[in-house]
Amino acid sequence: MKAVHVDLGEKSYNIYIGEKCLADLPRLLTGVSPDSVSLLVSDELVFSLYGEEVLEILHSAGFKVEAAVIKGGEGCKNLTTLDWLYEQMITRGLDRSSTVFTLGGGVVGDLAGFAAASFMRGIGFIQIPTSLLAQVDSSVGGKTGVNLPLGKNLVGAFYQPGLVLADVSLLNTLAEKEYKTGLAEVIKYGVIWDGTFFDFLETNRERIKARDPKYLIHMVQRCCEIKAEIVSQDEKESGLRALLNLGHTFGHAFEALTGYKQFTHGEAVAIGMVCVARLAEKLGTMTAAEAGRVVDLIQNYGLPVHYGNLPADDIVVRMRMDKKSTAGKIKMVLPTGIGSSEVTAGITEEQIKSVLS
Ligand SMILES: NC(=O)c1ccc[n+]([C@@H]2O[C@H](COP(=O)([O-])OP(=O)(O)OC[C@H]3O[C@@H](n4cnc5c(N)ncnc54)[C@H](O)[C@@H]3O)[C@@H](O)[C@H]2O)c1
Ligand SMILES: [Zn+2]
Repeated sequence: MKAVHVDLGEKSYNIYIGEKCLADLPRLLTGVSPDSVSLLVSDELVFSLYGEEVLEILHSAGFKVEAAVIKGGEGCKNLTTLDWLYEQMITRGLDRSSTVFTLGGGVVGDLAGFAAASFMRGIGFIQIPTSLLAQVDSSVGGKTGVNLPLGKNLVGAFYQPGLVLADVSLLNTLAEKEYKTGLAEVIKYGVIWDGTFFDFLETNRERIKARDPKYLIHMVQRCCEIKAEIVSQDEKESGLRALLNLGHTFGHAFEALTGYKQFTHGEAVAIGMVCVARLAEKLGTMTAAEAGRVVDLIQNYGLPVHYGNLPADDIVVRMRMDKKSTAGKIKMVLPTGIGSSEVTAGITEEQIKSVLS
């Protein structure tokens, strides 16, 4: 098993990555009290696949863990489900020394992580991410929260887990669409931070697409290392952490304008990365050859590279609504080559439209 250390002072923790490593969980649980009742939160699909196995592993090691299973999907990452979770925590007798285990994708991790952060002002929190997106992105960095009717992730907390255990064998049952949505974030790490990793993704495309565990372990590990490095320098997103938003300003506009139905998050981000690569080429921070490699890699992983027939004006209006834009000028992350990037302020609407045509 590989370990990635997330260095956050007193809040530091490890991410363990391996193949068929769920059984290693008990020996890693040094801070979890066997005397208190803990809660394993999962969604219906993931629980049906792995829930009993994880409960059995924890029970055999003497931990008192009960399951709370939510329906699943973005639609249940809300205050109603959170309220139900608190109710479960109280009726099953969780106390200040209890722990919440999450077994699922980003929805379960964000929701149950926030429940752990807020219940009795914060109890134990262990993440077992099961989607690729959760293993490489959402389980790392401590952002937890829920959506409100008025917007996504509007209520939440920075709350770091005690540990993360990412078993890449669990990814075998992940639907192709969900796997690809995670791959878009994987490609993002190569573009913003690590050219060698980008090369690895180019060279080993077939093995990664076939979900070869050896390659998945390296891939998940490298993504976690990069995110851990960024987050340990900027936990609360005052600077560097913004680089993780590459492709997201465009991507959020594509998602919103299609009612969150046409594209998965990763697909929208993939198209967004194509747009920023082309923009970087126009502004001269990236060569045409480098931008071409980004577009090719996205396409070769079966991700979309075009947003269809959305009107450019609508896209620009949406992007202007983004938190990061000021006075008609839009701030976004631009690649400055393969493996490096920077936040660029003052991108004009004309420049944006020039890559949308
Ligand atoms: N906290 C953060 O830093 C952060 C970062 C990025 C995204 N997010 C959040 O993450 C969420 C998206 O995460 P997601 O893409 O994992 O979505 P998700 O949790 O809805 O999982 C996607 C689907 O895959 C299924 N699934 C998960 N693991 C599986 C497995 N091993 N086998 C079969 N099916 C499996 C789930 O049941 C679900 O249907 C969003 O709410 C987003 O806001 C958070
Ligand atoms: Zn994303």
